[in-house]
Amino acid sequence: MSQITIRGGRKLEGTVQVQGAKNSVLPILAATILHPGQVVLRGCPRLSDVEASIQILRHLGCTARWEGGELLVDTSTMSRWDIPDNLMREMRSSVIFLGAILARLGWAEMSYPGGCELGPRPIDMHLSALRKLGADLREEGGRLRCTAQHMTGREIALSIPSVGATENAILAACGAEGETVLVNAAREPEIRDLQEFLCAIGCKVRGAGSSTICISGRQKTHDAVHTVMPDRIVGATYLAAVAAAGGVVELKNVNYRHLSTVTAALHEAGCKISGGDGRILLKAEGRLGSAGTVRTAPYPGFPTDAQAILMAALLKSQGTTVFVETIFENRYRHVDELHRMGADISIADRVAIVTGVPRLYGAEVRATDLRGGAALLVAGLAAEGVTRIGDVHHIQRGYEDPVRDLAALGADIVWE
Ligand code: UD1
Repeated sequence: MSQITIRGGRKLEGTVQVQGAKNSVLPILAATILHPGQVVLRGCPRLSDVEASIQILRHLGCTARWEGGELLVDTSTMSRWDIPDNLMREMRSSVIFLGAILARLGWAEMSYPGGCELGPRPIDMHLSALRKLGADLREEGGRLRCTAQHMTGREIALSIPSVGATENAILAACGAEGETVLVNAAREPEIRDLQEFLCAIGCKVRGAGSSTICISGRQKTHDAVHTVMPDRIVGATYLAAVAAAGGVVELKNVNYRHLSTVTAALHEAGCKISGGDGRILLKAEGRLGSAGTVRTAPYPGFPTDAQAILMAALLKSQGTTVFVETIFENRYRHVDELHRMGADISIADRVAIVTGVPRLYGAEVRATDLRGGAALLVAGLAAEGVTRIGDVHHIQRGYEDPVRDLAALGADIVWE
């Protein structure tokens, strides 16, 4: 399946079930290492990033197998502490295994992680947090060699609320003696889900969802079952798709609160939205209006992962919307592709100004990264004629089957 073909112009109608969250399940898969036994993950999305995490677990000597929609992981047979370069390059989240392996074994070895090219994505805060807990980290021949025989809990203040550094610090702190207090922690819902998983296996973590998280390390763990939270960015993508194409769609398995900044922007642009109790209903008619100024920010601000997706929904709006990307330096790579479809977007540094055009045209485009690729799906649904999206492996990192879901809503879309 090397490309997705969309014939735009059809309205969307119906109900769609949102998958479990990629950004929640990836740190949870790393966290399974903290318990030398079995865990069952329900609602685990089938994604290439999840497969990459499974490969890492298997390389480490653990077992992981699918049973229907559940993933069963057993780390009692874990026998290695190193992650080879090819698995590290697959995705950035592989670095979260560092904190978990250190907590379990006291040493770990890996290279620097890969992932979407969104500008420089250093891991200095991850490493500094682990060092504060007592880990000795050395770089030798492009590899990170880490030993942490006696990690001790203490206060760690992050200079910015990095999602990944918060997760790595929590996992390492689970293996440290005594209490760790993480200050200026990221408040993303996925961190709360990680806390719920950790508590389910017997770790003591509290405060996730706020900016101070407390971890009491070295607790006795046990087998557990955990249901992965809904993917708020996939939810945002389907909302943007209906906003762009027009129609009425109900999303199931969503948390309305997690999407409040996205729904506020879509409401500002003229969509009718209601929700609660795991559902969101969105109705869009005619051309949208401006969404004003959309500034990405750490949660509970507007998610950087939804920036490209919302931008794509507004390409045919009547008015001008200003995007300010404050999290990543290079997150407008999708814009050149949207230009091919007739979009009017100008960029100056971290600001993108979208001026709505009456028509978009189908074109041959390329997914530049995961969410940029999702933006092309949204734009393709609103364009006249045929859009062919290449490099769809970027999209498959985070979406189980967007073709299945959008086709079920009435879109003319196929894998080729
Ligand atoms: C996670 C999400 C990603 C989302 C991002 C921001 C996962 C798997 N990925 O990525 O989808 O776009 O949060 O919501 O959950 N930084 C440093 N030094 C560090 C770590 C981060 O300077 O050691 C910077 C980054 O370059 C970036 C900012 O901090 O500019 C935020 O990054 P971070 O929150 O760490 O994002 P990720 O965890 O990589």
